[in-house]
Formats: sequence, structure tokens, C-alpha cells
Amino acid sequence: MPDHRLTTFDLRLSTKKYYLCPNKRMDIKEAIDKARLPQHVAIIMDGNGRWAKEQGKLRVFGHQNGVTAVRDTVEGAVEIGIKYLTLYAFSTENWNRPRLEVSALMELLVNTINKETKTLMDNGVKLRAIGNLPQLPTKCYNRLHEAMEKTANNTNCTLTLALSYSARWEITEAARQLAQAVQSGRVRPEDIDETLFAQHLATKDIPDPELMIRTSGEQRISNYLLWQLAYAELYFTDKLWPAFRRQDFFEAIMAYQKRERRFGLTSEQLVKPQKKPFNKN
Ligand code: FPP
Repeated sequence: MPDHRLTTFDLRLSTKKYYLCPNKRMDIKEAIDKARLPQHVAIIMDGNGRWAKEQGKLRVFGHQNGVTAVRDTVEGAVEIGIKYLTLYAFSTENWNRPRLEVSALMELLVNTINKETKTLMDNGVKLRAIGNLPQLPTKCYNRLHEAMEKTANNTNCTLTLALSYSARWEITEAARQLAQAVQSGRVRPEDIDETLFAQHLATKDIPDPELMIRTSGEQRISNYLLWQLAYAELYFTDKLWPAFRRQDFFEAIMAYQKRERRFGLTSEQLVKPQKKPFNKN
């Protein structure tokens, strides 16, 4: 069993990060306490353009290499037992990027789904998507649905791609659905509470993320899962997304495990297990 009071040292003995606990050196993956994993990790994959620029290449080269980071992170997540992983792959705002970049990203999405469905099957990963999906090009929409159907019975991990997604869009949609339900008499205004509201979000069938990772040094939430991240721990790394690998993911998990999650309570109250203030995961 890993020691929770680990002191982190980057011993720089090799490319692997090692953690020190009394008289013992361990790989970061072994150092993770598997009993205290976040169920759901959400990621903002940022820095593709800057990474490409550093290589003297076009932005699309960064997106292409971002796929390797996606594969490695998904495999790493499955390896340690993360049940839900949600990736911000294309925001509502991204439609305003240069036309060529948008079409390259859509093509990359189709090609990636084609190539990586086998990886998802091999790792027992179920693919799903949230966002204004009918806005996607037809080919992209169809391929996505085929891959979701094919992987529907996988149970190791649920990988959700946020595509043509923005949290304000999602919250507005939920409000619209509830307004319609009230108008038609199916719901009374006094019945609307946090639980009912959350049941109208795109993420209604998955728990809220306990950890949100953003790469590239930016420290913003950028219209991502605004409702669901209410209690999440936020982890920011300077790594640019195409350079991100499972070791970086494991480091984020270690950082999460060192934090104290209080849900509005005091440290002293946390000594005894407490009922959480809301119906949170
Ligand atoms: C942000 O970097 C990244 C995106 C807008 C696209 C994310 C897409 C991928 C990682 C590749 C495809 C993913 C899947 C799931 C198939 P940026 O372009 O904003 O970088 P910058 O901030 O350096 O300009």
C-alpha cells in the first residue's frame, strides 16, 4: 500500500518521476492510492498551437500530435482505474477559428475515431459525446455515433468528448427544457432543485468531475462544465497538450490526492466522515 505522507522528490534518475517514501523509491503510478482515485477527471487540452509553433510547424501539426497525448492519457487513465474521463475537444467558440483550421480539426476527429476505435475496444472504453452535436459536419456526426454504438457495452472507463460544447449553452438548454416542462404542467416550479436541474444537463448520467486538469499554463475554465466543476479540484500544468503523457496525468492525480476536499466544511469536521452538503458524488 502506498504511503499517503509521501514526500515528492523528482530524483531525475531517469525520464520516470520517482516518489520517496521512507526507505523506498517508487514509480509515480505505484505511489497513487488506488482507493482514493477521483472517479471523474475532466481535461482542457490546451497548447496545441503553441507546441506546433515551437516546432516551426503549422497549428494543425499541434492538433495532430494532440491525438498521441489523448491516446496515452486514455490508456493511463484505464491503467490506474479512472472510471470517467471528459476531454474538451472542440468548444462552441472554436467555430470562430480560421475556416481551414476548423475543417482540419473536423477531419482529424473523423480520422481519429476511425483509427482509435480499436484502441477504445482493446481498453474497454465506452465513447460518448456532449455538446451541440448536430452542428458537426454530417460525416463527423455519423462516425461519432457509429463509434459510440460500437463501444456502448465497454465498462472500464467512459470517455466523453465535449464537441461543439460550451457550459453556458448546456445550462441554457437545461433551463429551456425545464421551462417547457413547467409550461406543459409536467413540473411545478417549486419542484426545481439542484438534482432536477442536473438531470437536464448533458452529463446527467455521469458523476461530476472531482479533478479538472488544464494544460499549457493557462488558468481559466473557459466555459467548460461550469455547473459540474463546482466542487472540483483544479490542476494547472505548463506542459503543452501534445507533450502531455500518462506520467503527467499520474502527477495530476498525485497532486489531487494531497489536497483536502472540504465541501464548505472545516478541516476539523472532516475528521469524522460527514454527509456532503449536497447530493454530490
Ligand atoms: C487547444 O489548443 C486545442 C484544441 C482547440 C483542439 C483539441 C484537439 C485535439 C487535442 C486533437 C483531437 C482530439 C480528439 C479527441 C480527436 P489550441 O489550438 O488552443 O492551442 P494554443 O492555445 O497554443 O493556440
